[in-house]
Amino acid sequence: MKQPVKRRAALPPSPGAKAIIVTGTPGTGKTAIARCIAQKLGYQYVDGARLIREQKLSCGYDQKRHCLIVDEARLRRALVSLITHASSPVVIDSHLSQCLSPEHASLCIVTKCHLTVLKRRLERRGYSAAKVRENLDAEIFDSCLTEAAEQGHSILVLDTTAATPGQVIDKKTLSLL
Ligand SMILES: Nc1ncnc2c1ncn2[C@@H]1O[C@H](COP(=O)(O)OP(=O)(O)OP(=O)(O)O)[C@@H](O)[C@H]1O
Ligand SMILES: [Mg+2]
Repeated sequence: MKQPVKRRAALPPSPGAKAIIVTGTPGTGKTAIARCIAQKLGYQYVDGARLIREQKLSCGYDQKRHCLIVDEARLRRALVSLITHASSPVVIDSHLSQCLSPEHASLCIVTKCHLTVLKRRLERRGYSAAKVRENLDAEIFDSCLTEAAEQGHSILVLDTTAATPGQVIDKKTLSLL
C-alpha cells in the first residue's frame, strides 16, 4: 500500500550529488534490487521507510489505510542532506524517493512484476485482500512510474518477475547505472 504524501515546493539542486532511486509498487522488489546494486557497486544503501521512522518525517496518520502520512518536503530535505554528506554514492529504497528532483538523482529505477506473481508475493506476506487489491491496482496503473516520469527522472524499468535480483542486476544493467 502506498503511503499518501503531502507535496510542497522543491529544494534547490545540489550539483555533483550521485544517487540512484529505486521505486516501485510494494512487493515488486525494491529492497532486493537496491541491496543488490549497493553490494555490487559499493554504494551506500538507504532504507527509506527506516529514515521516515527514525527522523519522524510524518505529518499525520491515515486512519483508513492505517499508515503514516509522509511529509514529502521533509523527506526530500532528509534525502538531499544524506546524499550531500555521504562519502559514497547512495542507492535509495523507497516508493517515495521519486520526490527527489533529477538534480539529486542520476537515475530512477522502477521495479515491476507480473500481476500473478506480485499477488502471490503480497498474499504470502499476509496482506488483507483489500491491501493486495490496492497494490495490484497501483501496479496496473503504473503509479510509481508515472510519478517518476512527472518528476522528469531518467527512468530504468526492471522486471523482477522471473529472475533473481543478481540476474536482474547483471553486467549489462550495471553498465547503465
Ligand atoms: N528478481 C527479483 N528482484 C527482486 N525481488 C525478487 C526477485 N525475485 C523474487 N523477489 C522477491 O520478491 C519479494 C518482494 O521483494 P522486496 O521485499 O524487495 O519488495 P519491495 O518492493 O521492497 O516491497 P516493500 O515496498 O513492501 O518494501 C521478496 O521475497 C524477494 O525475494
Ligand atoms: Mg522493501
